[in-house]
Amino acid sequence: SPPNFVRIVEVGPRDGLQNEKSVISTETKIELIERLQKAGLSIIEAGSFVSPKWVPQMAGTSEVLTGIQQLPNVRYPVLVPNMKGLESLLELLHSSSNRNPPLTNEIAIFTAASESFSKANTNKSIADSLDTLAKVTERALEEGLLVRGYISVVDTCPFEGRTDPVKVRDVAEKLKEMGCYEISLGDTVGTAVPATVTNLINEVTKRVYISQLAGHFHDTFGMATANVIAAVNSGIRVIDSSVAGLGGCPYSPGATGNVATEDINHALTGAGFETGINTELLVETGAWISSQLSRRNESRAGVAWLAK
Ligand code: HMG
Ligand code: MG
Repeated sequence: SPPNFVRIVEVGPRDGLQNEKSVISTETKIELIERLQKAGLSIIEAGSFVSPKWVPQMAGTSEVLTGIQQLPNVRYPVLVPNMKGLESLLELLHSSSNRNPPLTNEIAIFTAASESFSKANTNKSIADSLDTLAKVTERALEEGLLVRGYISVVDTCPFEGRTDPVKVRDVAEKLKEMGCYEISLGDTVGTAVPATVTNLINEVTKRVYISQLAGHFHDTFGMATANVIAAVNSGIRVIDSSVAGLGGCPYSPGATGNVATEDINHALTGAGFETGINTELLVETGAWISSQLSRRNESRAGVAWLAK
C-alpha cells in the first residue's frame, strides 16, 4: 500500500464488546461487523476463542463468524489464547470448508510485557505464555492462517507500574521469531503519551522492522489520538481502534475503551493520510452501536460530525 495509507484494524467487535456487562446478541454483533465493513474497514476483529468463563461476552464467536455476510478483501481475525482455542477454530473452519473464502484466515495471539498482567490475563507467566503461543503459531501457520501478535501493558502495568521498553522489545522479538507477521503494541492502561510512544518505538525497532509493528492505544487518559499521531510520525502504518471508542480490558481495572476509529480517521485524513473509510457510514455506525448498548458515544469526532 502507498506510504500515505494507514491501515486501521477495527477491534470494536472484540476489544470493545468483550468488556460490556449486558448480554449482546449475536445479531447485534453481526450487524456491527457488517456495518463496519460497509464503511470501508478491511480488517475487523470478529471475536475470541477464549474461555467463556473468563470472557463470557465472546462465547458466541463461532456463530458470529458463520453469520456474517462476508465481503471479499475483508479479513476477520479472531483471538486465540491456547491450543484449545485453535482446535475449536479449526473444527469450525474444517466443518465449513465449503466456504470460499474461508470464514477467517487469521488469528491473533496475545501476551504481555509484565508478569502480573500475563498472569491476570491468561493465568501464565510470560515465558509459559510464549511457549504455548509458539505451539499455537506453528500449528496455525501449518493450517495456512496468518498470525498477529499482541503485547499488552507496553507503557505501564496496572499492578507493576512503568514497563521497561527493553522488555517490550524482547517480547516483540520472540513473537516475530515464532512467525507473527505483525506485532501490535498495546497500551492497555492508556497511560502512554506521545513522548513515551516515540521512545518505545525507537527501542522496539532495534529488533523488529517498523513495517511489522502496529499501535493499539486505550484512551483512559485522553491521549490515544495524540499517541496514534506520534506512532504514525515514527513510521507505523497500522493502528487498532474501536468504533465509538468501545471497550476496555477485563483484566485492567479502570481501563477505558480503545481510541475511537472516528477520531483517528478524522486526525489521519486531516493530515493527508488515506484510510479507505467512508466517514458518514462510520460515524453512523458509532451512533448506532452506542444506542444499541445504551452507552455514551465516546468518539468526540463522531458526535461533532453528527451535530454539524
Ligand atoms: P485457565 O483457567 O488457566 O485454563 O485459563 P485451563 O487450561 O486450566 O482450563 C480451564 C477451563 O477453561 C477448562 O474448562 C478448559 O476447557 C477451558 P473446564 O474443564 O473447567 O470446564 N478452556 C477453554 N474454553 C474455551 N476456549 C478456550 C479454552 N481454554 C481453556 N480457548 C485461559 C487460561 C488462557 C484459557 C484463560 O485465561 C483465558 O481464556 N484468557 C483470555 C483472557 C482474554 O480474553 N482477555 C482479553 C483479550 S486480551 C486483551 O484484551 C488485550 C489486547 O486488547 C491488547 C491490549 O489492549 O493490551 C489484545
Ligand atoms: Mg486492547
